[in-house]
Amino acid sequence: MNVLSNASPLVGQLTLEEKASLCLGSDFWHTAPVERLGIPAIMVSDGPHGLRRQPDEGDHVGISGSVPATCFPTACALASSWDPRLVRRVGEALGREARAQGVAVVLGPGINIKRSPLCGRNFEYFSEDPVLSGVLGAAMIEGIQRQGVGTSLKHYAANNQETDRLRVSAEVDERTLREIYLAGFERAVIQARPWTVMCAYNKVNGTYASESAWLLTTVLRDEWGFDGLVVSDWGAVHDRVAALAAGLDLEMPPNLGVSDAAIVTAVRSGQLDEPVLDAAVARVLRLVDRATANTEPPPVPDPDAHHALARAAATECAVLLKNEDRLLPLRPGGGDTIAVIGEFARTPRYQGAGSSQVNPTRVDVALDELRAAAPDGVEIAFAAGYGIDTSDRDQQLATEAVALARRADAVVAFLGLPAAHESEGFDRTNMDLPASQTALLSRLAEANPNLAVVLANGSVVRLSAWEQHAKAVLECWLSGQAAGGAVADLLLGTANPSGRLAETLPLRLEDTPSFLNFPGEAGHVRYGEGVFVGYRGYDALAREVSYPFGHGLSYTTFDYGDLQTRIDGRVDDGDLAVGVSCRISNTGSRRGKEVVQLYVGDPVASVSRPPRELKAFAKVDLDVGDSQMVSFRLAARDLSYWSTAAGEWALEPGEFTLAVGASSRDLRLTTIIDVPGPPARVELGAMATLQEWLADPAGSRLLHEVVGTDEAGRPRGILGDDQLRSIVGNFPISALAAFPASGLGQGIVDELVRRVRSAGTSDVRANESAPTASSDEDVGQRT
Ligand code: BGC
Repeated sequence: MNVLSNASPLVGQLTLEEKASLCLGSDFWHTAPVERLGIPAIMVSDGPHGLRRQPDEGDHVGISGSVPATCFPTACALASSWDPRLVRRVGEALGREARAQGVAVVLGPGINIKRSPLCGRNFEYFSEDPVLSGVLGAAMIEGIQRQGVGTSLKHYAANNQETDRLRVSAEVDERTLREIYLAGFERAVIQARPWTVMCAYNKVNGTYASESAWLLTTVLRDEWGFDGLVVSDWGAVHDRVAALAAGLDLEMPPNLGVSDAAIVTAVRSGQLDEPVLDAAVARVLRLVDRATANTEPPPVPDPDAHHALARAAATECAVLLKNEDRLLPLRPGGGDTIAVIGEFARTPRYQGAGSSQVNPTRVDVALDELRAAAPDGVEIAFAAGYGIDTSDRDQQLATEAVALARRADAVVAFLGLPAAHESEGFDRTNMDLPASQTALLSRLAEANPNLAVVLANGSVVRLSAWEQHAKAVLECWLSGQAAGGAVADLLLGTANPSGRLAETLPLRLEDTPSFLNFPGEAGHVRYGEGVFVGYRGYDALAREVSYPFGHGLSYTTFDYGDLQTRIDGRVDDGDLAVGVSCRISNTGSRRGKEVVQLYVGDPVASVSRPPRELKAFAKVDLDVGDSQMVSFRLAARDLSYWSTAAGEWALEPGEFTLAVGASSRDLRLTTIIDVPGPPARVELGAMATLQEWLADPAGSRLLHEVVGTDEAGRPRGILGDDQLRSIVGNFPISALAAFPASGLGQGIVDELVRRVRSAGTSDVRANESAPTASSDEDVGQRT
């Protein structure tokens, strides 16, 4: 346990009661002050894509109002930019607004993995992939903290659903946790050093995250070196003393008069060691120090500049899923009519509901933006087509919309999920757009085939039921207050789409790898798909999808070539590095950005591994005819899996597939590298199987030597019997001792274990006790 006893000289001057008070907030959004010693209270506020600073006591679920702030694209949209530089810039703007509002810590980013498309908070999270989530999460932290404002990386860990979120136990094996659910947190903590981490509401393998010493101390602090403060999610603490002992420093909101009293009593009774409390207090004081270090007057944010950044960001986030006959960009000429259909074109949906809900400084409306930007003489005509929350007038609205579509040169249908369909607090039960919208779409397509769909939704929707009606589909997600302007830029070609899917769009909900295990039952949710989350699962199961992870089109085209790889260092020297480079060229007729994605696969492995996993990516901006070399560098960890047996990352030397492409299923360049190194060793002992002994060259030699040969020179017992070996070769050798035909009597097993230990051929597991009994007869067999 990493106890920072008396890290701050102030700790020693505090009374026990004052120390306890510092481990709780003083109200919903503030830490506790200690006026006697000049320790101020600092303020924290949501949230990930815009500030939600509540003027008074407030609430935490977006019901009460908040001070106006720029609403940037939500995480589901930002992630589709695949652009850490952009995310960093958004973070900087958020940090500026926070500082101007006196907010010391922004409660974000949220980087939980999108395990199921149904999770109500998917709009607040980045991706189904831990590398993408971790890289973008780190960028957001860096941007915000560069302004002298802290962040709270959340929700740590395995908070992947809203159903029963305060009680459910996520049952996840350690390999899956390490490779999928913790990996993004690990990257963001190590790279960007967030000032705080927020623990999740749920339990992980039976223990509340708020009480998990393994999560909060062993992994977070001891392994990853986290030096900040752990804050509870709002209401996640159930036993303040147990949480403190596990490593949870600050409880929010404070259970005043209860939690502080419990801490004092626990210290007085000896139930809690005071140094543990001191360590938490030191971390609170350090946070206060960090938050008050910058005494410069805060910047005065420029709302116009931030709105412009929100628009630029929203432009980068939209994903052009399909574009038949190059329908987009629209190229209307004088006298043309564009039919803009759908209430969302007039009443935009641009953010999600709950604790992240921002009171925007202003909101762009796509219809107005299109009208303002369309060339002279072009009519932008509007029909609502459907009602967002009511369906009573849908027939009449649809009839008007179809009539408009019929007389138009092209139709743009704005579809999406009504706010009531997805939110913090509950999960969806299906992935469908409202029936009123899909029914309208088929009628619009009959009236006019030149039909583009613009989508607004925070979690993925099923396209397979309706996309045949649209020549083009532009997925805009919930893209913040400037989404309307960004859509106009993209539809009219002022901007070129460059977003890529940060999550797979499945054909059907039933295809999703977590389908049979979401959202669990009786207080437990079993992560039965293991590491096969998102594209890892679809690829392993060879399931068709609507659009794969990483997919997104552009108005230009790109060519990939000149793949080169280079291996430096060695696995056993701990300095292995693999360099990968390739050339990307813009082969189309306009400037555009490509997201180059590097996937790694280990086709022959001792554990079941996904066919390919994203390990690196780069977004490149290329003018017509230009090309650029893109280089990546992989470390041993990028080729490794988490070995549960060894309790560490394991790299199995041999062949690895490296593929560079434009999506997880559009791999343009593939090569195989051979990583040299000693073969993976199984720990030989009494509980190692005969096959494991034989697969290890030294083990096999020893086995043959000890078992010996018969008069004809053939190996004795099972070693000379192919059929017997194929039937019981997977028995541990200690179990074979009881089978006379095996030729492995107890004495031989003992001898093998003794020799393998003393020769250091391989370590014997500590919990394996070798049988001790032996008989002369056994020993005699080998002589
Ligand atoms: C949410 C957090 C949020 C907190 C404070 C909780 O309900 O899960 O994400 O930061 O409230 O509003």
